[in-house]
Amino acid sequence: MATIAYKCPEITVNIVDLNEARIAAWNSDALPIYEPGLKEVVDACRGRNLFFSTDVQAGIADADIIFASVNTPTKTQGVGAGRAADLKFIESVGRTIAQHANRSKIVIEKSTVPVKTAAALERVLTANELHSGTVGKRFYILSNPEFLAEGTAMADLDNPDRVLIGGQVEQAVQVLVDIYAHWVPRERILTTNLWSSELSKLVANAMLAQRVSSINSISRLCERTGADVSEVSRAIGTDSRIGRKFLNASIGFGGSCFQKDILNLVYICEQFGLDEVAQYWQKVVDMNEYQKKTFTGRIIHALFNTVSRKKIAVFGFAFKKDTGDVRETPALTVCDMLMQDGAMVHVYDPKVKREDAVTEFKYHGVEVDDKLFTFTSTPEEAVEGAHAIVILTEWDEFKTYKYDVFYSKMMKPAFLFDGRNLLDHVGLQKVGFEVHAIGKPK
Ligand code: UGA
Repeated sequence: MATIAYKCPEITVNIVDLNEARIAAWNSDALPIYEPGLKEVVDACRGRNLFFSTDVQAGIADADIIFASVNTPTKTQGVGAGRAADLKFIESVGRTIAQHANRSKIVIEKSTVPVKTAAALERVLTANELHSGTVGKRFYILSNPEFLAEGTAMADLDNPDRVLIGGQVEQAVQVLVDIYAHWVPRERILTTNLWSSELSKLVANAMLAQRVSSINSISRLCERTGADVSEVSRAIGTDSRIGRKFLNASIGFGGSCFQKDILNLVYICEQFGLDEVAQYWQKVVDMNEYQKKTFTGRIIHALFNTVSRKKIAVFGFAFKKDTGDVRETPALTVCDMLMQDGAMVHVYDPKVKREDAVTEFKYHGVEVDDKLFTFTSTPEEAVEGAHAIVILTEWDEFKTYKYDVFYSKMMKPAFLFDGRNLLDHVGLQKVGFEVHAIGKPK
C-alpha cells in the first residue's frame, strides 16, 4: 500500500487496523517490520497521501476500493486442522465491510486464499449489507494476489515480473489495472478470471517450494556419491528451460507462505477426491521436513553422537536473510532437536529478537528451556567456548567475519556446519575447522 501511495500521488491510501499498538508503530519512526527500503517510502508518503488509523468504519465508508489484507493462517482445530486455511478473518472483513459500506465498492482479496473464496466473500457481503436497497449499489470482488518476497519486497513491488488481477466484471478489473499501470508496463499486468488468479498464487508458491525440495533431495544424493550440489545447480541452471533461480540447496525452506500454501493446495485436492495429486504435493513438504531433520542429525552425529551440555553457536534464526521474520523458520526444528539432545544453543541474528523466537516455539507447542536457549548481541559471544558454529540463515555479514579468530576461541575439534553453503569451506578447513556443508563431498 505504501508503494501504491508512493507511485500514485493522486490516490489517498488509508490503512486501517483494529490493532492500536501496530497502527501506533506505523505512525512512529520504529516501523513494526524490517524490510529494506520500506522506511524511506513510508517517510515520503505518510501524512501526504498515506495514513494509518484504527478507524475501520471511516476507512470503509470513505473508500472506493478496499484491499482486504488479513492473515489467513492454517486452521488449528476442527475440519482440515493443520492444513486448511482459516478464513475467519476474511469472513469478518466481509461482514464489517457490508455493515459500513453505503455505496458501491470494489473489494480486493489481497490475502492468499483457497480457490473460490471470492465467491464466499461475495455471499457474506451481500447477505449482510445494512444499506441494501441503495440504488445501483454493488460489491465488485477482485483477486489480486501478491508475489513479493520478504527481504526484497520493495524492489519486487517496484519492478514486478507480473501483476495478477482476477475478476468477473471488466470495468472493475480496469480500475485496478489503471492503478498498477502508473509504474508497471501494461504487458506485465495479467488479467484472468477470479479462480485462475486465486489458484495461481498457491501454485506459484508450490512450484517454487518444489524446486527447493528437488535440489535438496539431490543434495542428499551428492553427499553419498561425491558430487557437489553447487556444481549440479550451476550445471542444470544454465539450461534456460530450467533456469538458475531457486536452486540453492539449504537446510530447508521456511517462511509464512510455502508450507501453508502447499498444505492448503493438498487439502483442496483431497476435497475434490484427487488423492494422487494431493500426495504429489505433500511430498514437497515431507522432503523439507526430512532435510531439516537430517541436517541436525548430522550435527549430532559429527559431535560424537551427543551434544548434551555442549555450547553450539547458531548464526541466524530468520527464515532467510534481510528479514527479522521467524515464521516457520527451519532454525526452529534445528534448534529444537539440538536442545532436546541437551545442547546449549547460543543464537546470534542481526534482526531477530529472542522473544520473537520464543513466541514461534510456543506457536509450535514447544516450551523452551531458558537455560538452554540464549540470544547474544554479538557473534563473538556466541562462539566463545563453543564446540560448533551452525549457519542457518544466509546473512551477508556472516561472510565477513574473521573465522580464524573465532576458531581460536572455540573448543577443539572445532566444527562448522554450513546449512546455506554460504562460506569458503576450503579456507575454513585451512584455519582448522572440520566443515560440514549441504550436498558437498566429504
Ligand atoms: C515467497 C515467494 O517467493 C513470493 O513470491 C510470495 O509472494 C511469498 O512467498 C508469499 O506468498 O507471500 P518468501 O516466503 O518471502 O516469498 O521467501 P522466498 O524467497 O520464497 O524463500 C522461501 C524459503 O525458501 C526461505 O526459507 C529460503 O531461504 C528458501 N530458499 C529459497 C532456499 O532454501 N533455496 C533457494 O534456492 C531459494
